[in-house]
Amino acid sequence: MKNKNEKNTRSPLRFPGSKSKVIKKLHPFLSIDHDEYREPFVGGGAIFFAKQKASHNWLNDKDENITHLFEVMKTQPYDLCEMVLKTQPTVELWQKYRLEREQIDLYDPLERAFRFLFFNRTNYSGIYNANPIGGIEQKSQYKIFCRWNPEMLCNLILKCSQKLIDTRITNFDFRNVITKEGENVFLMIDPPYYKKGSSLYPVYMTPEEHLQLAELLRESRHSFLLTIDDCPEIREMYSWAQIILPREWHYTINSKKSDNIGKELFITNINIIVP
Ligand SMILES: C[S@@+](CC[C@H](N)C(=O)[O-])C[C@H]1O[C@@H](n2cnc3c(N)ncnc32)[C@H](O)[C@@H]1O
Repeated sequence: MKNKNEKNTRSPLRFPGSKSKVIKKLHPFLSIDHDEYREPFVGGGAIFFAKQKASHNWLNDKDENITHLFEVMKTQPYDLCEMVLKTQPTVELWQKYRLEREQIDLYDPLERAFRFLFFNRTNYSGIYNANPIGGIEQKSQYKIFCRWNPEMLCNLILKCSQKLIDTRITNFDFRNVITKEGENVFLMIDPPYYKKGSSLYPVYMTPEEHLQLAELLRESRHSFLLTIDDCPEIREMYSWAQIILPREWHYTINSKKSDNIGKELFITNINIIVP
């Protein structure tokens, strides 16, 4: 049923709220039997790239820049690597790309994907709308190129490309992915944070949309695991589901700011006991 030859890997994207550091805690859920795996909010893809592939796989994000990059990693990995290898990030280049960002629709898919990856690896915390690492003045000890390791990035791009073969990539709203019928489907749901989502992602969700998500999941026949920041609004929306507070897991967006530290919940309709 599952392809045992698929190698697990890491995403080349840095992503606010990425699950890359807590992937082990997700394993009991990711290991449940499923024929189809869907991620309606794939973001950097940390979970998909780290797990074993199912027979059918569907990755989705409403942010077109993300799905563009995934599509190019899948179909033109060597062209993308060539661009990465010949680029040395500078503030001048960053400023040029930032000025031209509004016309991103005019670029061919490869150029567009590359520029998105460039911002992701040179911006503070990988946040699309943030300033470059080290600031425009570059006075910090951390410089704009400190997360740009071309060989490492190309290595990841090529591995991810392999993993994306036969994987469906779409740019829909989450509703289309959750409501689609299917057999033995597992939904991995990692939406924007309820409280801080609007400051982290260009595409985020309103409280009404979070409520609609909760309603759709309540009605869904598919198994799901949702990870989300712990707050009273979320606990109330999901009072009908199993809510688990994983031990010793704090998410940190910027480890230097203690007010950014919070707790995340696991919410699921799977009957599972987590150690
Ligand atoms: C928390 S991030 C996902 C992080 C990802 N799991 C990782 O580990 O890298 C949430 C994602 O939801 C996407 N998103 C926001 N609103 C959406 C919507 N209505 N439908 C689909 N995706 C949406 C954002 O673009 C963002 O990439």
